[in-house]
Amino acid sequence: MAVATVAALLAALGGALWLAARRFVGSSVRRLHGGGDAGLMRGKTVLITGANSGLGRATAAALLRMGARVIMGCRDRARAEAAAGELRRDLRGDGDPGSDPDGGAGELVVKELDLASLRSVRAFCREMLQEEARLDVLINNAGVFQCPYMKTEDGFEMQFGVNHLGHFLLTNLLLGLLKSSAPSRIVVVSSKLYKYGDINFEDLNSEQSYNKSFCYSRSKLANILFTRELARRLEGTKVTVNVLHPGIVRTNLGRHIHIPLLVKPLFNLVSWAFFKTPVEGAQTSIYLASSPEVEGVSGKYFGDCKEEELLPIAMDESVARKLWDISEVMVGIVQ
Ligand SMILES: NC(=O)c1ccc[n+]([C@@H]2O[C@H](COP(=O)([O-])OP(=O)(O)OC[C@H]3O[C@@H](n4cnc5c(N)ncnc54)[C@H](OP(=O)(O)O)[C@@H]3O)[C@@H](O)[C@H]2O)c1
Ligand SMILES: *[C@@H]1O[C@H](CO)[C@@H](O)[C@H](O)[C@H]1NC(C)=O
Repeated sequence: MAVATVAALLAALGGALWLAARRFVGSSVRRLHGGGDAGLMRGKTVLITGANSGLGRATAAALLRMGARVIMGCRDRARAEAAAGELRRDLRGDGDPGSDPDGGAGELVVKELDLASLRSVRAFCREMLQEEARLDVLINNAGVFQCPYMKTEDGFEMQFGVNHLGHFLLTNLLLGLLKSSAPSRIVVVSSKLYKYGDINFEDLNSEQSYNKSFCYSRSKLANILFTRELARRLEGTKVTVNVLHPGIVRTNLGRHIHIPLLVKPLFNLVSWAFFKTPVEGAQTSIYLASSPEVEGVSGKYFGDCKEEELLPIAMDESVARKLWDISEVMVGIVQ
């Protein structure tokens, strides 16, 4: 009897907590993409890096429903094909008002792209330029979070190498195609954790010391500095570039974080109640990729589909330029 009462009380408490939390999370997320957006992206080609999982996958699903040709740039073809198959199945099965009434949803294309290999980035871009007539939106979304010390194929620290340098080369090699497709957009997925980073030019590959959380933050700060410097370089071209933070989202990003078995249920409860779902977390990416509201807007930082302020460390123009110049040398664009 007493056990049943306690269980009922706990269940009620859990339910109330969940409802309260969902209200809290839900209210911070503007729901943008109802039925009115069907066809908004028809005729447009979008490239999303890391589109097989989490935010990238939710972004791909939404833009596909709006009619875009979505290229999934992924390092593992099998995982990407599996995700693409599921997205196509969801689309056929959903009959949701967001899908195009004429059955004019877009198409999904999987292409191999390993951002931890400059050779792979170059091969991917060659294929893009051969096979794609246009590129309207590039979404730099793929990311690694707090992995143990690892190096990319080219000897870069993994988080800096994938989150910043791989995307730096990718964007530069696709810039011509973006320009010839203008007006076009670049969307960069950063994180609020950029606040704890700084660009230590003396040890960009963390060979002297490695702090995985610092390196993640630094790579996400690099994403913002990159965006601002690129926006400056693209003035007058009708190619815009903006950066965003998605909030805290329940995805596979924490794969390198070890949570003790005993703490796991508590973590799951908290994340289930308080973290955004991938669909909620992807709203700002979808907004910046598709909304007419941000036509012509460039060099800005967004959260929950609204512009936000940056700390001074992310607005330092001389650091942004220096990072750009060094990145060009690191990826071999200039000697
Ligand atoms: N989740 C959050 O709370 C949060 C908060 C702030 C910012 N973000 C940012 O959001 C972005 C998306 O992350 P997510 O949360 O959706 O995590 P996720 O579910 O782990 O997705 C990350 C994606 O990046 C891909 N990726 C990793 N290394 C790659 C490489 N070398 N080459 C190509 N693709 C690679 C992954 O591919 P595999 O599946 O093959 O590993 C996966 O598709 C990241 O940039 C992250 O920094 C997330
Ligand atoms: C690692 O870096 C973070 C900032 O990103 C800092 O708070 C933390 O103290 C650092 N850890 C060590 C062991 O230096």
